[in-house]
Amino acid sequence: MYLGIDLGTSGVKLLLLDDAQAVVATADAAVPQHRPRPTWSEQHPADWWAALEAAVAQLRAQVPAAWAQVRGIGLSGHMHGAVVLGAQGQVLRPAILWNDGRASAECAQLEDAVPTSRQITGNLAMPGFTAPKLQWLRTHEPAVFDQIRTVLLPKDWLRLQLSGDAVSDMSDASGTLWLDVQARAWSPAMLQACGLDTLHMPALAEGSAPTGTLRSDVARRWGLGKGVVVAAGAGDNAASAVGVGARTAGQGFVSLGTSGVVFRVTDAFAPATERAVHAFAHALPQRWHHMSVMLSAASAFGWVTRLTGRGDEAQLSDAVGALAPGRRALAPLFLPYLSGERTPHNNAAATGVFMGLRAEHDAADLAYAVMEGVGFGLLDGLNAMRAAGAGQGDAAVDAAGSTAPVQAELVDARTAPGAADSALALVGGGARSNPWAQLLASAFDTSLQRPQGAHAAAALGAARLAAMACGGDEAHWCQPLTADAIFMPQPAQQALLADRYARFVALYPALQSQF
Ligand code: XUL
Repeated sequence: MYLGIDLGTSGVKLLLLDDAQAVVATADAAVPQHRPRPTWSEQHPADWWAALEAAVAQLRAQVPAAWAQVRGIGLSGHMHGAVVLGAQGQVLRPAILWNDGRASAECAQLEDAVPTSRQITGNLAMPGFTAPKLQWLRTHEPAVFDQIRTVLLPKDWLRLQLSGDAVSDMSDASGTLWLDVQARAWSPAMLQACGLDTLHMPALAEGSAPTGTLRSDVARRWGLGKGVVVAAGAGDNAASAVGVGARTAGQGFVSLGTSGVVFRVTDAFAPATERAVHAFAHALPQRWHHMSVMLSAASAFGWVTRLTGRGDEAQLSDAVGALAPGRRALAPLFLPYLSGERTPHNNAAATGVFMGLRAEHDAADLAYAVMEGVGFGLLDGLNAMRAAGAGQGDAAVDAAGSTAPVQAELVDARTAPGAADSALALVGGGARSNPWAQLLASAFDTSLQRPQGAHAAAALGAARLAAMACGGDEAHWCQPLTADAIFMPQPAQQALLADRYARFVALYPALQSQF
């Protein structure tokens, strides 16, 4: 029996997987998110632990016999967050999360300090990444910075509580901007630019490798036996990839989680920074991946649900599904940048925008606009990924010297080289909405497979990595999942979306000076 722990932004999700790869049970517990100032996003590590304990108690109560047989634990977590620890291992301040935008100025400083940073790290320096956050602390909270002995990523802080080991995995470490992503080793040059060195960093392991065993006091309290293996695990996106069986070059997924992601495995390290595409190590040895990331996806739908006073996202999604095409054509457009944006704009100051509001619009029209705007944001990301896959890499960046906003048309996306998106899976909480899944298939002009258990792909991936760390074979434990639904592009919907996408891509440059 293997336990997958996924520390998500909105809560901890647990998944118990048996030796025949059947999901035995799941449980989850919410974690509060704090936004003490505009663009800031923080969480208290103690809240992660409390949520983990609560979810464990639930799972244990649900399936006591299966629970007692757990022999491996895998970890997945939201990426990039800075957990800073002092000499006694104490947490020095709340963790600064992936969707925090305070460290924009520090990104430029870092790139100036290490002119080869994009080649080393495979990424633009973006405020969500860990290194600029430490630079921000150095300038704005020097008393905290001076006490820092160790910096950990969120899931790795959970590992420290579980097994006492300070270790990270290659996929999550890629999101720090301190990793030499090609070499899969810490970069002394990037660390030095932040006033840090490798002594501040955890050890590194491949995602499917064991990193230690569960502490005996935790095992006793949780009613588990001795020697439970803790696997390195993965950042939540690489974990989702393992969850859907994306392990060889070209395989990938689209995620409608708190963030919105397009992910594709590559068999080499291939930086493609010109449109803010991320190039990271995969959680599986000798593989890497490309990824586009938008900072508000399913979270934007939660936001519009609360804003319109609708208690229930599923009901609002049904209301969107019932909107006639003529009504959709008249809905407002929505720029989904509620927390700023990474791919393709790399602009922490960008905000959400409704454009074209009319007196006759109601909650369903706004909800449609949000679904569509998030879908178009993902399409921007997919277009950037398609360009990266077609080999339009960093030569273009360096020549241009800037990150040009994507101006692609829907029609370009369909004919772009590399546009054959072999079997993209759709995962994340938002994947439960049929109207949203259908809209994405039409907008992307590709079929989307929604696997069974799509909303828990990261926790499943973590459990699969645990099985591999206990000696399981990768090909056996990392198979694609059975689809519970397949969404095909619908030509009538595509015609409507093409028109609206052309207006969407014109909006950001028109408003950029206002952000
Ligand atoms: C990836 C990213 C998000 C978080 C939260 O770069 O920032 O996807 O991992 O899920």
